[in-house]
Amino acid sequence: MADTVKKIGVVGAGQMGGGIAQVAAMAGIEVVVHDAFPGAIDKCKGLHSKLLARAVEKQKITQADMDGALKRISYTESLDGFKGVDWVVEAIVEDAKVKHDLFQKLATMLPDEKVVLATNTSSISITQIAAAAGDAAHRIVGMHFFNPVPVMQLVEVIRGMQTSDNVVDRTVALAERMGKTPLKANDRPGFVSNRVLMPLINEAFHALMEGVAEPEAIDGIMKLGCNHPMGPLRLADFIGLDTCVHIMNVLHEGLGNPKYAPCPLLKQYVAAGRLGDKSGAGVYDYSKK
Ligand code: CAA
Ligand code: NAD
Repeated sequence: MADTVKKIGVVGAGQMGGGIAQVAAMAGIEVVVHDAFPGAIDKCKGLHSKLLARAVEKQKITQADMDGALKRISYTESLDGFKGVDWVVEAIVEDAKVKHDLFQKLATMLPDEKVVLATNTSSISITQIAAAAGDAAHRIVGMHFFNPVPVMQLVEVIRGMQTSDNVVDRTVALAERMGKTPLKANDRPGFVSNRVLMPLINEAFHALMEGVAEPEAIDGIMKLGCNHPMGPLRLADFIGLDTCVHIMNVLHEGLGNPKYAPCPLLKQYVAAGRLGDKSGAGVYDYSKK
């Protein structure tokens, strides 16, 4: 199926929203990025310039590619800036209630049947997000990118119970146009990726809590012994410890098995505001980087 998307609205200017916007703009698509919190947009704008300039320096892209991509991205502090978009990708906090409220608003604001409302959720039910969107339920789909978006190849495509075939096909086509490999998964808590990855990360926190080894040793053992590019604690910091707790809560609640409860130590880091790279410290300290 040919993809005809001309303008994408990205909600959330954090690590995922920023990456999705960058990759879409590099694929020749116009993008408008919205974030509700002051400062997030400036940070995202700065990162776009920095990451694209680094790619030019490394001769991965030309200066003209960079200029073109930056010209295609605009930023807005209000969702009113989404007028005229024909696709939305939501990448806000991993909280079902906050996502439901947003999708209710998006469905009302963008009533055109052709506009697809995709969510980058890591774990939350697509069917339940769609329920919040009322009549627009068939236009809701999971379009799950991976971090860092410009580097990672996969987009996990998740069909909710009411998602139309046409919307799934168009999501696959758009992911391919963005240079990604789409793979389909069913709408179960955590889909495939986080059903498998997040319990591994959670177990690493249990190992740390029980003093099985120091953080560097836990990560080093999994890197050198299992050929993972990052150890599980380092990866948790990279993802965001708050996001890890949210995902474990969804697995725990959705699958009903106590083995999925978030590790108390992981929750403690979050309570202390140590969210990982994005807050300057998590398991490790990034304040000097
Ligand atoms: N944004 C954009 N590009 C980035 C980046 C970032 N945050 N971090 C690294 N890169 C790019 C670098 O620019 C470099 O690009 P080139 O090859 O074009 O020069 C490339 O990635 C490799 O970077 P480095 O050489 O600096 O470092 P590295 O070799 O250690 O790779 C890494 C960094 C790609 C992040 C690698 O460590 C890795 O693959 N880690 C695992 C990532 C992973 O598992 N992601 C999935 C997380 S789970 C998820 O996303 C789903 C969820 O719902 C939670
Ligand atoms: P993040 O904390 O880096 O960014 C989230 C952004 O959303 C913030 O800038 C915040 O200001 C903004 N935001 C929060 N509520 C909002 C609202 N109601 N309206 C507008 N903006 C709002 O988070 P992230 O890591 O980019 O994750 C975003 C989504 O992507 C989550 O659902 C997460 O589970 C998913 N995800 C994360 C990763 C990862 O590795 N971090 C990977 C894949 C998917």
